[in-house]
Amino acid sequence: MGKPETLSPDRIAKGPHARLVGHRVLVYPTAASTNDLAWSFSDRPDHSGLCVFAEEQTAGRGRQGRRWLSAKNQALLFSVLLLDCPAAAETLTLASAVAVADAIEEITSARLSIKWPNDVLLGGKKACGILTESRRLAGRPCFVIGIGLNVHQDRAFFESANLAATSLQLETGQTIDRNELAARLLNALDRRVEQTQTAPHLILTDWKRRNHQVGQRIGLCQGKQHFHGTCLGVDPAEGLIVQLDDGPIRLFAAAQTSILP
Ligand code: BTN
Repeated sequence: MGKPETLSPDRIAKGPHARLVGHRVLVYPTAASTNDLAWSFSDRPDHSGLCVFAEEQTAGRGRQGRRWLSAKNQALLFSVLLLDCPAAAETLTLASAVAVADAIEEITSARLSIKWPNDVLLGGKKACGILTESRRLAGRPCFVIGIGLNVHQDRAFFESANLAATSLQLETGQTIDRNELAARLLNALDRRVEQTQTAPHLILTDWKRRNHQVGQRIGLCQGKQHFHGTCLGVDPAEGLIVQLDDGPIRLFAAAQTSILP
């Protein structure tokens, strides 16, 4: 494993420069899930934009009930709380994936792509997952965006956990400073979350530039049902647009859909 530097809120937080994300950062040595921790701060409106990091999670969760595994001090595991945010969960997930890609490209020359709905891939393998959760609180739309980005893990970690995934360090050979990466990531998230309200077309353009599924044949799974077709594009608020082999054009919402390998 790589060097176990610890995360420091002072090096990560954007402070008063933050528009929507990252004015305040909390770092916990351990948490069950940073998504749950972030929700626990939703009682005060001025907590919107708060970012909660953990050095390890004991019950990290992924999409569709999957677990999210990471060893202590090896990753960026954090969640952003957005209160009264007029966006769709799907749009926030796309914006977050683009923000992760922006930040990684600022400090590495990694070969990167985005796989719908929420994976950032390096060298074709998953290095980052995003779990956006939504609730209506006091009648207002609220979100937690949870991000798990593999930074220092070595091959032995992924092999022993039986995961077909990778880390930034494995793919680039670079020594990455997690505090610097986290600070850049919050900058990018601040900008991209604002764009969900001011310029969503820019998110879509930058998402498409890094996606290899549009124009390709794909298989999808919703519960026990499988679908095959050609991916035509993505609707930022509704999901993936697919021309089915045996019928109409259909929209697939991220919450209920997985891409078949
Ligand atoms: C996925 O690809 O299935 C999404 C994974 C999201 C993992 C992150 S780690 C930080 C945050 N806390 C969680 O429990 N999950 C998200």
